[in-house]
Amino acid sequence: MVALAENDVIGHDNQIPFRLRSDLRRFKRLTMGHCLLMGRRTFESIGRVLPGRQTVVLSRSGYAHAPPEVTVLEDVNQVAAHVESGRQVMVVGGAQIYALCLPYCSTLWVTRVAARIQGDVRFPSLDWSQWRQDSAEQVPVGPQDEYATEFQVWTRRDSQ
Ligand SMILES: NC(=O)c1ccc[n+]([C@@H]2O[C@H](COP(=O)([O-])OP(=O)(O)OC[C@H]3O[C@@H](n4cnc5c(N)ncnc54)[C@H](OP(=O)(O)O)[C@@H]3O)[C@@H](O)[C@H]2O)c1
Repeated sequence: MVALAENDVIGHDNQIPFRLRSDLRRFKRLTMGHCLLMGRRTFESIGRVLPGRQTVVLSRSGYAHAPPEVTVLEDVNQVAAHVESGRQVMVVGGAQIYALCLPYCSTLWVTRVAARIQGDVRFPSLDWSQWRQDSAEQVPVGPQDEYATEFQVWTRRDSQ
């Protein structure tokens, strides 16, 4: 699950460089009850455990200061064994973890932000021909949104 600008920027100074209340609401709705898989930098950027979801953080250095509710893993191959029963794994960034996990993903939930944004982290390059777009929803600028967005769902072409 990712929100990306027209120039593929997703982050700046370890923050999300756009304010999109409507997207945060959708993120909460779609991820509730599931397992969030994220990199250590993204977890530190969020700064807290998001309620109602399992949090798994990847960190090669072990991330000794993680809160006790967080499962810290050093290798992506350990994730499956730690996901709590009934939860879907949703990869929520950042760029390093998208690059690592995209080969394992079967669905992409993509928020396209209608702007070019200055940033220091971009979504990794992806062969979109391997993906089929299932839906696209135009989202006009809401009361606490900086930009209009389009919310897209994509499915990997070789997945059933
Ligand atoms: N727009 C969006 O939808 C969105 C979503 C999420 C994040 N973001 C933004 O993305 C930026 C952060 O992305 P990032 O790429 O800098 O960092 P990141 O992917 O969140 O985290 C990187 C960290 O993950 C760990 N890691 C990386 N590869 C690993 C591997 N193979 N095995 C185990 N651990 C591994 C390392 O932790 P250690 O250093 O502890 O070893 C590494 O420093 C921020 O600006 C954030 O706001 C944007």
